[in-house]
Amino acid sequence: MEDINERARTKLGTGRVADYIPALAEQDANKFGIAICTNEGEVYAAGDAQEPFSIQSISKVFLLTLSLRVYGNELWERVGLNPSGMPFNSLTQLEAERGKPRNPFINAGAIVVADRLVSAFATPSKHLRDVARKLSGNESILIDARVQESEWQHRSRNAAMAYLMKSFGNIDNDVDQVLHSYFSCCSLAMSCVDLAVALNYLAADGHAQAMGEPFIAPDLARKINSIMFTCGMYDAAGDFAYRVGLPAKSGVGGGIVAIVPGKLSVCAWSPALDENGNSVAAQYALELLAEEMVRQQL
Ligand code: DON
Repeated sequence: MEDINERARTKLGTGRVADYIPALAEQDANKFGIAICTNEGEVYAAGDAQEPFSIQSISKVFLLTLSLRVYGNELWERVGLNPSGMPFNSLTQLEAERGKPRNPFINAGAIVVADRLVSAFATPSKHLRDVARKLSGNESILIDARVQESEWQHRSRNAAMAYLMKSFGNIDNDVDQVLHSYFSCCSLAMSCVDLAVALNYLAADGHAQAMGEPFIAPDLARKINSIMFTCGMYDAAGDFAYRVGLPAKSGVGGGIVAIVPGKLSVCAWSPALDENGNSVAAQYALELLAEEMVRQQL
């Protein structure tokens, strides 16, 4: 971890911090952290791995997991399973495809998934926050109110998607309520250590490390990993698959979670992003980790 921390920091200064809301634009581009959680429950970390950051689209993995637990395969009537080949906030396919988003990891797809959770839970954001706390074993995890408020102020594009999908009958609930839930999930603040531990269930056949019990069925963990592999890095999923070869999910806060099924979960974070919205240093760190695992035959 220390070696990767040192080498990944050579990438600091490349890329741009997300600037669509002030709360993210103010992030320090010189931060870098990485944490691993093994399926045996050992945690290894380096750099700024304990510092909470805005998890943004990494929350789409939690949203999807919770929704699949409630709705199972019925969910796929509402959202597809294929890469979009478009930026994560694109609207262009939605009209032609009658309001059914390509996959649950683009914004439109996550908004549909959030609508399903609004139907299933009285307080979906609180439920998701509590699940994040339980899965990570960190009771102090919070939704960052400032990020959440900024997301709301800058909601036009996500609101446009939600209304278009509602016009096709693919959103059941009040659009504002769905957007509030979606934004509060994006605004969860978690550290690399929190995320590596929380998402270890995807590496461990559905068994939640911090809870010490099964969270989802092994088959569901395999399926979520598959969607992460094909759709988790937006338009760059193919590039990332070639470079790293692991299921992963990124967020515009600069975090990326990757899964080594049967072995470990890892989260790397650094705020500066490339043109696809993926952290430059975090991608490089995961590439170094993947190479090292091959070299050491792990
Ligand atoms: O909804 C949005 O546009 C933001 N909260 C971005 C979420 C995100 O991380 C997308 N991509 N990486």
